[in-house]
Amino acid sequence: MQSSQNETGARSTGSDVLVVGGGIIGLVTAWRAAQRGLRTAVADPAPGGGAAWVAAGMLAAVTELHYGEQTLLALNLASAARYPDFVAELEAESGQDTGYRACGALSVALDADDRAQLRELHAFQQRSGLSSEWLTGRECRRLEPMLAPGVRGGLRVDGDHQIDPRRLAAALMTACERAGVVFHRSWAERLRVEGDRATGVVLADGRALGADRTVLAGGSLSGKLDGVPGDVLPPVRPVKGQVLRLTVPRAYAPFLSRTVRAVVRGSHVYLVPRENGDLVVGATSEELGWDTTVTAGGVYELLRDAHELVPGITELPLTETLAGLRPGSPDNAPLLGPTALPGLHLATGHYRNGVLLTPVTGDVMATALTTGELPAEARPFTPLRFSPAASVRQEQPA
Ligand code: GLY
Repeated sequence: MQSSQNETGARSTGSDVLVVGGGIIGLVTAWRAAQRGLRTAVADPAPGGGAAWVAAGMLAAVTELHYGEQTLLALNLASAARYPDFVAELEAESGQDTGYRACGALSVALDADDRAQLRELHAFQQRSGLSSEWLTGRECRRLEPMLAPGVRGGLRVDGDHQIDPRRLAAALMTACERAGVVFHRSWAERLRVEGDRATGVVLADGRALGADRTVLAGGSLSGKLDGVPGDVLPPVRPVKGQVLRLTVPRAYAPFLSRTVRAVVRGSHVYLVPRENGDLVVGATSEELGWDTTVTAGGVYELLRDAHELVPGITELPLTETLAGLRPGSPDNAPLLGPTALPGLHLATGHYRNGVLLTPVTGDVMATALTTGELPAEARPFTPLRFSPAASVRQEQPA
């Protein structure tokens, strides 16, 4: 790390890449950048936290397929395909287990309406070239005996797996440290812009950090960094998710062997069983700004819906209730790579898919930071799609 005087005379520490935000997206960006030989730093008062601390960690490219998100599907599938190698490399580099489980998933229907909806989803998955198998209620219960007797059918998706996002974050922290990433444990308060370039940030503790390339990876907070010009400020918003953790006592194991989910009266509920006995139940989806209150109503609805699916959950200890903020974007897809402001990159807006998109985000950002260009698979996710002035400039003949 170099140290020099900046334009205001304050002491400035410099790097090739400065990542603002130490959640899993910031950490994977920093790790991959450092592996490419770039002097890399991360600014975050509590790296390894953020939305991933709350997330269930489903890698649900197929079960969470949504109409109108086919472009995102390609990126989701690319990232899911990278997961086994990514986990093997990360676990070897960090010496830590990430809790990755190739366990598959089962989406079930509880009544005739749910079943019709799930049949539609199955047809859509098949049109999209995805692999899923229709099962009768009896076949679902043979796979997962704890399911309610009333389950009317389901979709078996053997390719949708899970990881423990807290362990993933911890492993990424260690891998970053081993790759030489420097951590500044403070909020980034303001982007520094000199001439027409971003040149780093000023931290809440007053330190100025210089960087040739600054990456804004602050999750739902990414749109709040002072000093970022309005036309490049990422249009991300917080989308609240309340999540519960139950514990399966050893005597009850195996309670569930794979992720089980359903849409109950229009609300999505999922149960993700971890190898260590945790059972994660999620999640609400609430447009309530920066509110992270765990509410009685949220907990009630999650437990009520999960109980309809798996009645035996009422026997389990309730060990944690939390709310986190997904970084929502206008088209539900991430913003990756260079912005219209030279020196400023984005890695944010991953919304429901931050954990799933971690491997591909690391690779894409490493390419963008070393070459200045996005690889082909990530071009639809350029931040310039939300930057009209930049788009107009791009469309003009050279
Ligand atoms: N992908 C799960 C969620 O956002 O709740």
